[in-house]
Amino acid sequence: MMIDYRAEIERMKQELDVTVVAHFYQRDEVFEMADITGDSLELARRCQADKNPWVVFCGVGFMGQSVKVIAPEKRVLMPKIACCSMARMIDGSYFDDSVAYMVERGVAKEDILPITYINSDATVKSKVGEMGGMVCTSSNAYKIIEKGLESGKKILFVPDRCLGQNFAIQMGLKSCVIGEGECDPKEADVVCFNGFCSVHQLFTVDDIEFYRNKYPGITIAVHPECDPKVVQAADFSGSTSQLIKYVGELDPEQKVAVGTEYNLVNRMRKENTYVLSSTKPECPTMNETTLEDLYRALKSIEDDQPINEIVLDEHTTKWANVALQRMLEIK
Ligand code: 13P
Ligand code: SF4
Repeated sequence: MMIDYRAEIERMKQELDVTVVAHFYQRDEVFEMADITGDSLELARRCQADKNPWVVFCGVGFMGQSVKVIAPEKRVLMPKIACCSMARMIDGSYFDDSVAYMVERGVAKEDILPITYINSDATVKSKVGEMGGMVCTSSNAYKIIEKGLESGKKILFVPDRCLGQNFAIQMGLKSCVIGEGECDPKEADVVCFNGFCSVHQLFTVDDIEFYRNKYPGITIAVHPECDPKVVQAADFSGSTSQLIKYVGELDPEQKVAVGTEYNLVNRMRKENTYVLSSTKPECPTMNETTLEDLYRALKSIEDDQPINEIVLDEHTTKWANVALQRMLEIK
């Protein structure tokens, strides 16, 4: 017998004490089923405030982990254990190597303040928390780096070299990337790990020139995970929520090309909106979750046999939470 996944998901959402959460990059059919949607910061804040004991998180691993860290009493399931490729570029030992890189080049460990982009594993967040550091997202990185600088320390920014450099440029700070040319931590204010998002690397300055030539007067809006050259050449950069707001407030006749994940751009206003790439910029891991997976995750709660549950050890949870709470306290 064919299962009507939509109807079954709706039924279980009514009957179980569960909140379904989805990031903007999820497939439409999954996204439409969610009780909570938002950018990474909004998802973290809203999940913390949510009362239900069960969370089914449609997104990538670090997002579900963040809910578990912030609210350890909750049971958090992922319909698919999908991992953000950028988050996988750094683990605890690469983090330690980055600290050692700075120390070997003359910066004392006490003078380093680590900031990790939320797109990182809980073990990295935990190490950052233990060193007095914080988490940031694409929507609050400016404020978090500004706060970090108040300590008078050097910032070690992991794992996204683009986000770190983009905000350093915006703030008039000196930055360098470990492993890219001469990176002297004594000279730089912000030292970045060499990670990146493969999806956002697809957008190029050539793409921007193509659209500017084709549609003179077009606006270009991109996510700050894009290369600094792309962000510099664009008219606006912001988190997924900030991009939605920016495009939503444009005059309907104003053409705009957007540099972020395909599912989100496709869901923005239909007229006069273009994807800033000649290839479809899909995040493969965000796209792994299907309606059937969501159904199975909810069914597993109903059947009392939860699948794909996020489990973290006490130490990791404690210190990752310290790093996340330091971020959440900054308004
Ligand atoms: P946002 O926090 O802007 O939603 O970004 C998350 C992400 O993974 C972008 O690639
Ligand atoms: Fe990670 Fe990039 Fe996918 Fe965002 S778009 S989840 S940064 S791989």
